[in-house]
Amino acid sequence: MAKERATRERLRQLLRELAEHDYRYHVLDAPTISDAAYDRLKRQALAIEAEHREWVEPDSPTQRVGGQPAEGFATAEHRVPMLSLDNATGPQEIEAFDARIRRLLETDEPVTYTVELKYDGVAVELLYQDGIFRQGSTRGDGHIGEDITHNLRTVRSIPLRLRTSDPPDILEVRGEVFMPLDEFARVNRDRLEGGLEPFANPRNSTAGTLRQLDPQVSAARGLDIFMYGTGRGEANLGVRCHMDLMERLRELGLKVNPRLERNTGIEGVIEFHRKLERDRDQLNYEVDGSVVKVDSFELRERLGQLTRSPRWAIAYKFPPRQETTVVRDIRFHVGRTGVLTPVAVLQPVPIGGVTVEHASLHNQDEIERLDVRVGDTVFVERAGDVIPKVIKVVREKRPARTRKVRLPEKCPECGAATLRAEGEVAVRCPNLECPAQVKERLLHFASRGALDVDGLGEKLVDQLVERGLAKRPSDLFELDLETLAGLDRLAEKSAQNLLAALEQARDASTARFLHALGIRHVGERVATVLADAYPDLDLLARAETEELSAIHEIGPTIAQTVRAFFDDRSNRREFQRLRERLRLRAPTVAPGSRRLVGKTLVLTGTLSTPRAAIRARIIAAGGRVIGSVSKNTDYLVAGENPGSKLTKAEEQGVSVLDEAGLEKLL
Ligand code: IVH
Repeated sequence: MAKERATRERLRQLLRELAEHDYRYHVLDAPTISDAAYDRLKRQALAIEAEHREWVEPDSPTQRVGGQPAEGFATAEHRVPMLSLDNATGPQEIEAFDARIRRLLETDEPVTYTVELKYDGVAVELLYQDGIFRQGSTRGDGHIGEDITHNLRTVRSIPLRLRTSDPPDILEVRGEVFMPLDEFARVNRDRLEGGLEPFANPRNSTAGTLRQLDPQVSAARGLDIFMYGTGRGEANLGVRCHMDLMERLRELGLKVNPRLERNTGIEGVIEFHRKLERDRDQLNYEVDGSVVKVDSFELRERLGQLTRSPRWAIAYKFPPRQETTVVRDIRFHVGRTGVLTPVAVLQPVPIGGVTVEHASLHNQDEIERLDVRVGDTVFVERAGDVIPKVIKVVREKRPARTRKVRLPEKCPECGAATLRAEGEVAVRCPNLECPAQVKERLLHFASRGALDVDGLGEKLVDQLVERGLAKRPSDLFELDLETLAGLDRLAEKSAQNLLAALEQARDASTARFLHALGIRHVGERVATVLADAYPDLDLLARAETEELSAIHEIGPTIAQTVRAFFDDRSNRREFQRLRERLRLRAPTVAPGSRRLVGKTLVLTGTLSTPRAAIRARIIAAGGRVIGSVSKNTDYLVAGENPGSKLTKAEEQGVSVLDEAGLEKLL
C-alpha cells in the first residue's frame, strides 16, 4: 500500500513537472530542460500510467493525442455570444471610431485603448472547469460552434490545466488558433510532394487541421494559439480592464502575445499599427491588421454592442496585397507525379514588394469557376508565403478577343494522351518517361530535403534528360567528367563540383533516401516516420498496407501509396539500383528501445488503449504484429475477453502477456 501511494505521488510529481516544462517551452518560449530530458520524464509518467490505467487523468500531459478518431463533430454552445468586429481601413476611419466613442461617452478627454495584433487564423473558445480544460469549440455562427476538443488538446500551447491552486469554477477563454508560417510551408511542401493540393493559405490550413476527425493528424501539424478575450467566468478573475485581463490570463498559463500596448488617445494606436505594417513580414504567423479595444470594462459596458459586433472595439485592417494585371498566356506545368497544373503567365506586377509574373490556377475546375481567359485583366493576391493566386476576373475590362483555355488532351511535354482519374480533379500525363516528369523527379531527388545534390539545377537537368544521359535518379551516379564535359556551358570546375556533390550525397540517411524516391504522400516528415519504424528497408518494401497504417502518423492513404510504389516492378528495380549506389545509414536508435526486433506478436481482446497505438509502439520497437496465432508467434497480448486466440496460443505454447506485461517488454 505504502509503495502504491509513493508511486502515485511520483506520477503526480512527474505530471506537475511535465506541465511546467510545457508552459516554459510553449508559452514562455524559455525551456529549461533539453527535449531528451523532457522525453525521459514523459516516458516515466507513461510507464506508471500504463500500469495503473485508473490513475490517468484527462489533464495528464500524456493525454494530448488520445482516443479514437471522432465520428463527426458535436455542437457546442457559446453562452456569451462570440461577436465579430467592425472594420476600419485607414487612419481616418480609426479617428472616426475614436470620435464616435467619445461622443457616445460624452467626453472630450482622451480615451484609453489597447491595441494588439489581428491574427488571421480560426477563433476558438476554451472551457476550463475547476481549472481543467474540458471543451474547445469553433466560433460557428457566434452562438453555436463545433466541438473540436480532441484537436485542440494537441495544441501544445493550450494548457490542459490552469496554473493556479485556486481556479475559478468556470472560465471560458477565447483566442485565435493559427499555423506558424514555417510549419505551413512544411505542411504544403509535404502535400505537394505527395501529389496533394497545397492549402491556399495558413488560415485554410489551420481550419482544415482543426476539422480533422483524427487527432493524430492535427498533432503532426504544429498549430499554435494566442488568447485575446474571455466568455463566461470573466467576473471571477477580479480584473477591470483588458490589459489586466491579459496579464491575468498569462499568469494562468495561457499564451498571450507580448506585443500588446495601452495608449491614451488614438495617436499611439495609429503609430503601433504603422510599425506593425512595417514588421509584419518578420513575424512567423499571419496578421491582417491590429485590433483596437477600449481598455476599461466599465466604459465597454456603457458603450454596449450592436447585433454582431461591440461598439468598443474595431479591427484596423491592412490593405489587401492585391493588384490587377493582364493574363498573357495560360500554360501547363507537368509535375513529378504527372499532374498538369495550369499556370497564368502575367504581365509582371509588384505586389507587396515582390514582382509577380506567374499565378497558379490549380486545375480545370478553377479555370471554369473563374472563367479566366488569355487577355483578361485579373485580380491577383499574394498571401503569406504562398504562390500568388488569381482571385477574380475584371469582366468590365475583358477585351473583344480573348482565348479560352482547356486542359490539353495531350501532354504538352511528351504528347501522351492525358487522363483524369475518377474522383480526382487533377489531369495527369500517364507516361512515366515523359521528360517533364523525369526532370521533376531528378530535381526532387537532388533537392534540399532529399539527397541535397548541390549544383544539380534546372538547366543541367534539362540537358541531362534531353541528351538521354539520365532517365532515372540512379543514372546520376554513372556520370563522369568526360560525359559532363560534353554539356553546354558547364565549366570543368562545375563538373568536378557536381561529381563531388554526388559522391557526398551517397552518404544518405534512410529517411532522406525514402523522401528522395518521390513516393506520393511521402514528404520529409512521413519519410522520417517510416525510416524510424523500418530501419531495415527490405521489411518496409514488403510491409502490408495494414501493417503500415498501424504506424503512428501513417494513415491508410499513405500506407496504400507506399505499398503501390513497391508493387511496381520498375520502382522496385530503381529502389535496388539506388541502394547499390548509395551508402545508406539507418536511424540510430537508443539502445534498449528496439527490444522487439525479430519478434512476432498477436493482439487480442479489448485493450485499454487503441490497438493502432499499441501496434505502432511494437513496430517502433522493431517487432511485427500479425493477425493470427501460429507456432511462430512469440507473444500473444491478451486484453479482456480474449476468445479463441488465447486458447490457440495456449495449445501452441505461445507466451501470453497482459498489457502490463507488454509494457515491461517495451
Ligand atoms: S477580439 C468582441 N482580438 O477577428 C471582440 N479578435 O472579426 C471579438 N481576431 O472572430 C474578437 N485577432 O477571430 C479579437 N486580437 C484579436 C483578434 C481577433 C483576430 C479575429 C477573431 C474574431 C474576428 C473578428
